[in-house]
Amino acid sequence: MNKNIVLIGFMGSGKSMIAEALSARLKRESVNIDRLIEAREGQSIAWIFEKKGEVYFRALEHDVIKGVTSRRGIIIDCGGGVVLRDKNLKLLKTHGIVFHLQASPEVIFERIKSERHRPLLQVPDPLGTLKLLYQERLPLYNQADYIIDANDASIEGPVAEILKKI
Ligand code: S3P
Repeated sequence: MNKNIVLIGFMGSGKSMIAEALSARLKRESVNIDRLIEAREGQSIAWIFEKKGEVYFRALEHDVIKGVTSRRGIIIDCGGGVVLRDKNLKLLKTHGIVFHLQASPEVIFERIKSERHRPLLQVPDPLGTLKLLYQERLPLYNQADYIIDANDASIEGPVAEILKKI
C-alpha cells in the first residue's frame, strides 16, 4: 500500500481527473509531472515546447520523474509522452504500480479537440496525428502493470478498478 500509484496513457485519457479522485479517496498526495515541469521552468508546457523544443522538454520530464520516484506512497500523474524514454518507464515500474488508462483515439479526440494547450496536437490534421502517435505509443503504454478501460465518460469505473488492484 506504500507503493506509488502511477498513471500513464495518451493525452486526454483522464489521468489527471482519475489522479485527483484517487488522491481524495486514499488521502494520498497526487503529483502532476507537467505541473512540476512548469513550476520548475516558470513557463507553460506550450511555451517550453515552442521556445526550447521537445528534446529539452523530455530531458526536464526525465529529471522530474527521477525526483518523484524517490518518494513513496504518492500518486504520480504523468504526461502522455513519458513512455517515450525507456528509462522513465523503468523508474516508474520499479517505484510504483503502473496503470495504463486506455481510451480509443476517437474517444480521446472528442474529449480534447477543442483544447489548445497540447503543442503536439496543434497541427493541421490533429486526428491523423493523434492516431499516428497512438499507434506508435500503444505498445509502450501496454508495458504497464495493469491496463484500465478509460473509454467511459465517468471516472468511477477506472477509479474502482485501480482501488481493487492496489
Ligand atoms: C504530451 C502530453 C502532455 C504534455 C505534453 C506532451 C505527450 O500531457 O506532457 O504536451 O507527448 O503526449 P497530458 O498527457 O497530460 O496531456
